[in-house]
Amino acid sequence: MIHVGDRLWLLTTPSSSYAVRLGDDDVPRCVHWGRPLTLDQARTLPAGREELPGEGGERFGVAGLQIRYADGVRGVDWRHLGHQVGEDGLVLRFADRHHPLEITLHYRVPPGGDAVERRTVLRNAGATPITVLRCDSAAWSVPARDDYRLSHVTGAWGAEFRLGRARVAPAETVLTSRRGHSGHHANPWLAVDAGDATEDAGEVWSTALAWSGSWRVTLERDQDDRVAWSGGFGHEGVTWRLGPGESLETPVFTGVYAPDGFGGASHRWHDHIRAHVLPDANRTRPVIYNSWEATGFDVTESQQMELAERAAELGVELFVVDDAWFGARTSDRAGLGDWWPNPERFPDGLKPLIDHVTGLGMRFGLWVEPESVNRDSDLYRAHPEWVLGQAHRRATEVRDQLLLDFSRPDVAEWAHAWLDDLVSGHDIAFLKWDMNRPFTEAGDDTWVPFVRNVYDVIDRLRAAHPDLLIEGCASGGGRADLGMLARTDQIWTSDNTDAAQRVAIQHGYGQIYPACTMGAWVTDSPNALTGRRTPVRFRFHVAMSGALGIGGDLRHWSGDDLREAALLVETYKRIRPIVHGGRMDRLGPCAVQYTRGDQVVVFVWRPSALEPATAPVRPRGLEPGAVYRDEDTGAIHHGAVLMSHGLPRPLPFDALSELTRLTRVG
Ligand code: GLA
Repeated sequence: MIHVGDRLWLLTTPSSSYAVRLGDDDVPRCVHWGRPLTLDQARTLPAGREELPGEGGERFGVAGLQIRYADGVRGVDWRHLGHQVGEDGLVLRFADRHHPLEITLHYRVPPGGDAVERRTVLRNAGATPITVLRCDSAAWSVPARDDYRLSHVTGAWGAEFRLGRARVAPAETVLTSRRGHSGHHANPWLAVDAGDATEDAGEVWSTALAWSGSWRVTLERDQDDRVAWSGGFGHEGVTWRLGPGESLETPVFTGVYAPDGFGGASHRWHDHIRAHVLPDANRTRPVIYNSWEATGFDVTESQQMELAERAAELGVELFVVDDAWFGARTSDRAGLGDWWPNPERFPDGLKPLIDHVTGLGMRFGLWVEPESVNRDSDLYRAHPEWVLGQAHRRATEVRDQLLLDFSRPDVAEWAHAWLDDLVSGHDIAFLKWDMNRPFTEAGDDTWVPFVRNVYDVIDRLRAAHPDLLIEGCASGGGRADLGMLARTDQIWTSDNTDAAQRVAIQHGYGQIYPACTMGAWVTDSPNALTGRRTPVRFRFHVAMSGALGIGGDLRHWSGDDLREAALLVETYKRIRPIVHGGRMDRLGPCAVQYTRGDQVVVFVWRPSALEPATAPVRPRGLEPGAVYRDEDTGAIHHGAVLMSHGLPRPLPFDALSELTRLTRVG
């Protein structure tokens, strides 16, 4: 709902309002972001921080809009041109008073949604180029509080999405990726609270940027003890030359306000992403088998067929051959770019394997890394000029590979053509789209068009093959963001498949991203990366709380493990609609609940057997007066008792995990 007052605009969602007002100087400023207000209530508030602070005048904080005109003059002298309210939400139009720069601020509440989507468009309406040193999507500010706390995730390869909470320093805090993908170290998501929020109480203001390349969000606690942040694509130093008539469109920066704690913020993010970001959240995420950890670079047709047979026996629905099915890819040193079946490994092409897989009742998928190339490839030999690089600079190799310059239309066209051929020419239901190295030697005109072309290739592929499922990946969870999720079905969360470490990774991932997007495999014990031994049941219980896959070498699993695995896959299929479509509540760092209608699923994990016993886990949001049946024991429990005293079956002393399924029966 959008209300228009006298130079005041109010957007209202079920749990929040966002109000903007123009000052006498025509500068748009935030009046309110928080609990729902009426227009009359918003009118009584003074204007606060600028919606997109620039430079010049008495501006000494973070500049989200930095402009330099041909005459060397900087900044924007705002002049309001008008506004529109329509299907696309609220559009506020501005121009500089002297220079031919037009600025449009967009605000949108998706239909039925509980989030505000913001973005900015710049246009050079003049005849000479304008340099854009920075153009953020939006700036956000929260009402004055006694203190402020920042929640965000940090990490590295194999250790993504570690949740951190810290008092906001009286300084500028920069969350960024300079890697050309959204990154392992930070994720373009954050939350701010007054230091008093808990899982289910307190105000939380949270934002996420829909961009899969370099980005920067700068959070500032200023000398007046106020907190605001500005964010957008590109890191510092990435600039644009805006030619006459050209426009620059920023990605969407989405804000969610929750009056009911971190859990409430997560509920709204999950609902928003499922309803308004993902191409189709209702599509069933199949149980996947992926052969990477089992066979690495040593792929053969017969061995994949054997794995497929084992996988089918467990109830797997989709079989994926990961790396090393193509070109001369027998190690990470060769083959990227040559996207045809390796003739020695698949002498008759992929068809015999695909037929075998589909004959077993599964669908088939492949790993691809379209943005990369090895020097040792036919593609590189034919098109060395396609590599992302800069004159007189040595091309850095990471993981023995280079990047293709996807900002080039011919490169993007080539990628689209072979991907389309691959999917059209085979019975392929799934692609894992990987990107295993950051940008290096990239020029100003590369960072943004590269990502846009990646988006465009995926979008065209999806449009032509609407049933194709796509998993986003960048060395694990290095490219998990709302931009990627707008065109993929799930994300490969981390190459770390050690269930004990996954619990923390998933705890961070789930703060914003829903379980249906959280790719999670059960792999071997001992774990290939960490050497940890864990029971198969624990590994399953951790992976079953996301989008389940299996990635172990099933040829070496014991009969007992295979039998237990098949039962657990069966159970997973029963709870999948609840886990993927329900409301998620964290019941502590090692327990999570999913609730959909009358059905409740609770996972409890004990990542280390030496953890001291904890109090029973108490489910949330049950009907106090209702009764619930435990689907495994048949016992009946009262909602009020479960919420006060916890689950009836505490974790047995010798178990690392427990799954409880409850159904409301009266
Ligand atoms: C990346 C991915 C892995 C796997 C390998 C293949 O590291 O994250 O899951 O696909 O590439 O080379």
